[in-house]
Amino acid sequence: MSQLIYAEESAVVPLKPATASARPAIRVNQANVIYPAADQPVHALKDINLTIRQGEFVSFIGPSGCGKTTLLRAIADLEPITSGEVLVNDMTPSEARQAGAYGYVFQAPVLLPWRTVLANVKLPLQIQGVPPERCDEIAREQLARVGLKGFEKKYPWQLSGGMQQRVSIARALGFEPKILMMDEPFGALDELTRDNLNQQLQQLWFNEQRTMVFVTHSISEAVYLSTKIVVMSPRPGRIVKVIDSPLPAERSLAIRDTPAFLQLAADVREALVEGHHDH
Ligand SMILES: Nc1ncnc2c1ncn2[C@@H]1O[C@H](COP(=O)(O)OP(=O)(O)O)[C@@H](O)[C@H]1O
Ligand SMILES: [Mg+2]
Repeated sequence: MSQLIYAEESAVVPLKPATASARPAIRVNQANVIYPAADQPVHALKDINLTIRQGEFVSFIGPSGCGKTTLLRAIADLEPITSGEVLVNDMTPSEARQAGAYGYVFQAPVLLPWRTVLANVKLPLQIQGVPPERCDEIAREQLARVGLKGFEKKYPWQLSGGMQQRVSIARALGFEPKILMMDEPFGALDELTRDNLNQQLQQLWFNEQRTMVFVTHSISEAVYLSTKIVVMSPRPGRIVKVIDSPLPAERSLAIRDTPAFLQLAADVREALVEGHHDH
């Protein structure tokens, strides 16, 4: 499983790209989230209906406050919904979480500064009671997978922001989750670092076809990475459009200069603008 991201010799045979017939991994039916507030309750999500199929790379995009994080958290069992239904592999989010279905990467890397990189990746495995030797083995394997072999003994503060975020991706991959959830993981990084990580994430997805649910407010990031783009709008938070990508499964950064990419980016932008106006 190691070195998937840097598999230059392409020893890994990619699975078949996700198709419209793949099994649904996540189903959201008429879901609402209303946060209570002293003055006026916040309707963070209104009547959300969404199906994410196994192996899809889905991005939620929209302006700040449109409910992207709330939707991701509702799917990951980090936020209860007020009404409606969320099913993950035909289970409730709570059952899916207990079954180890998710890996979650937060906006900031949230690494413990007093633990080495290796110890940070090992932590959730240790908490789950995985035997020490196995923890060590898995953590080293996952670090190699995100290109951080040789950095095991460093402390988080000795790494760049991009490397820290790779450590948190390695940590999320430790349980081999079927679904990887990422909330604006590269939002705080400079553009070149972000490009680099986008490319590695694309390769990781292409090689493994794990289901990915990704939050961003960058149009080009969403278009580059996704097989499906969910455009959202605020007040109340809702889905304004779901756009299926016609781009091939394997993508180099150069795809961003192709007419198909630019057309898709224009479609996403248009949906964002529409969502902005119709309330
Ligand atoms: N715990 C909370 N309590 C009250 N309001 C919240 C809470 N979390 C988010 N909100 C509100 O819900 C809306 C959606 O928030 P969020 O899901 O964080 O949006 P996004 O991730 O798209 O920026 C916003 O108006 C936000 O202020
Ligand atoms: Mg958010």
